[in-house]
Amino acid sequence: MCGIVGYVGPRAATPIVVNGLQRLEYRGYDSAGIAVVQNGSIEVRREVGKLSNLVNLLAEQPTNGHLAVGHTRWATHGKPSQQNAHPHRDASGEIVVVQNGIVENFRELRESLQAEGFEFQSETDTEVIVFLIALHYAPEGGLAEAVRKALGYLKGPSAIVALTSREPDKLVAARLGNAGGVAIGLGDGESFIASDIPAILEHTRRMIFLEDRQLAVVTRDGAIVQTLDGQAVRPEVHEISWDPISAAKGEYRHFMQKEIFEQARSLTDTIRGRVDFAAGEVYLEDMPLTAERARSFDRAVIVACGTSAYSGLVGKFMLEKIARIPVEVDYGSEFRYRDPIIDERTLIVTITQSGETVDTLAAMEEGRAKGAYLCSIVNVIGSQAARMSDGVIYMHCGPEIGVASTKAFTSSLVDQYLLALFLAQLRDSIGPLARQKLVDDLARLPELAGRLLDADANTVYEDLAERFHRYRNFLYLGRGINYPVALEGALKLKEISYIHAEGYPAGEMKHGPIALIDRDMPVVTLAPQDEVYDKMVSQVEQVKARSGIVIAIATEGDEFIRSRADHVITIPAAPPLLTPVLSVMPLQRLAYEMAVRRGADVDQPRNLAKSVTVE
Ligand code: F6R
Repeated sequence: MCGIVGYVGPRAATPIVVNGLQRLEYRGYDSAGIAVVQNGSIEVRREVGKLSNLVNLLAEQPTNGHLAVGHTRWATHGKPSQQNAHPHRDASGEIVVVQNGIVENFRELRESLQAEGFEFQSETDTEVIVFLIALHYAPEGGLAEAVRKALGYLKGPSAIVALTSREPDKLVAARLGNAGGVAIGLGDGESFIASDIPAILEHTRRMIFLEDRQLAVVTRDGAIVQTLDGQAVRPEVHEISWDPISAAKGEYRHFMQKEIFEQARSLTDTIRGRVDFAAGEVYLEDMPLTAERARSFDRAVIVACGTSAYSGLVGKFMLEKIARIPVEVDYGSEFRYRDPIIDERTLIVTITQSGETVDTLAAMEEGRAKGAYLCSIVNVIGSQAARMSDGVIYMHCGPEIGVASTKAFTSSLVDQYLLALFLAQLRDSIGPLARQKLVDDLARLPELAGRLLDADANTVYEDLAERFHRYRNFLYLGRGINYPVALEGALKLKEISYIHAEGYPAGEMKHGPIALIDRDMPVVTLAPQDEVYDKMVSQVEQVKARSGIVIAIATEGDEFIRSRADHVITIPAAPPLLTPVLSVMPLQRLAYEMAVRRGADVDQPRNLAKSVTVE
């Protein structure tokens, strides 16, 4: 969603800010803007559409200063337009604000500010913030005090950065609730602010993350952090180990393509250092969980959204089978509104690539309030979910830039497998031999993934995409542990190619969807040789009996399926609990090739955002 980048220091601020915003483009946005302090006043440039439009505007109307803030906006209140783009200014033009989040009570605030004579220029909720700051600005307290007072009026989550030409040496950043992160990068005689680490990673690895209800005054010398109640805070300085090169596209056409193809490596990174293969043991460095507490859990609840929720549906099989703990899976957006039954005997496992998904964070808050143990599976280091948790299992798959999640899905599956083994160790739920076998299975996984991704180059996917990219509907069928993979395959196709696709448990087909089967709706069937293979074959027969087209994902060497399906993509034979890590990869590649042929914006599909920080 919206992105923020700020800079203060000796260098020209505009290129740094624009470059940072470019690195956040993957988050999704529909307009962009920048405010620069220049010769004692503030210059603002805003433009609708892609950042390149703002770059063109800046070429026509250049800015030149050493302190700036920029923003990419994903419209919530008011359509994408120049007026609604951030930064927003007060009437004097001397104070500006950018915001991520939502001011839930903005209508009442707007009315009372209008009654005081403030004239609004936009339809956004953000403009109330800049007027509130202007209203409370006094030279003695300065900008920080005015921001603090303004935030006192706001309901709902907000992350803001404000600046004023009256104090041209500082940016003020603040965070209220979960509206995405605020990272402050500490450089040498310069400082940065960003809503997401990749924006500023090329400049510094030393970062502070603002917590809920904290405010920072950021100058070229660093940051002074306080709570919104005025208490001084000594923030932890994190050293970020990501390699900025890994956030570049390299030889690939799209980030999504790169992220699909790097899965053999990302899976290795997820496993690395956590398994003693000789002893058959798993170590999770950021999971301070005692055997006593682990034994006290009477169930686990996995909560997540979108792709991460589908990952959780696979994880349910792993946790139940290996750790012998009953598991429930729910969407963050549903969980929070159903007064869920949770207590201190509940293990809540949240899965979130970004660590900032507001519905997932709300589920964690619910769990925290009811005494549950919070374990999160997270990719973005230092993100809100990681900080809120009792235990964290990082995905360690590197920055995922493509909006459609791919490598984070497979790494989160492996993390859940590790969690299941870890709990099994603590709860003594399986014997050492069985555990050793599961660990050995895991050891082979990256190599199998590498083989699958290298095999048959792209031709099978290119041929299928060439043939089917104009079709309007697809059905994806899976059963058992591969049913969630069918859901994920359908989601990948719809979100990046805009083709309607539905995932279904194969056995349910005859209870309704079978009525849809004809030559115009290809059916993608997950049919690896596992315990439900025969049942999947009979689904294939049922589709064929109705003149349907079947694209089967099957195990290498399965000749029988070739005689039944119209098209077959093979995957290496793998242990049942790990098969989804492989079976999803052909679906990712198929969706990618289809989207490319349809000329879609693969890395930034319309209307989507990488981290969903609004409800
Ligand atoms: C789909 C996709 C989304 C995310 C969802 C949750 O490809 O990426 O469905 O999985 O928005 O995001 P995180 O995992 O960041 O909480």
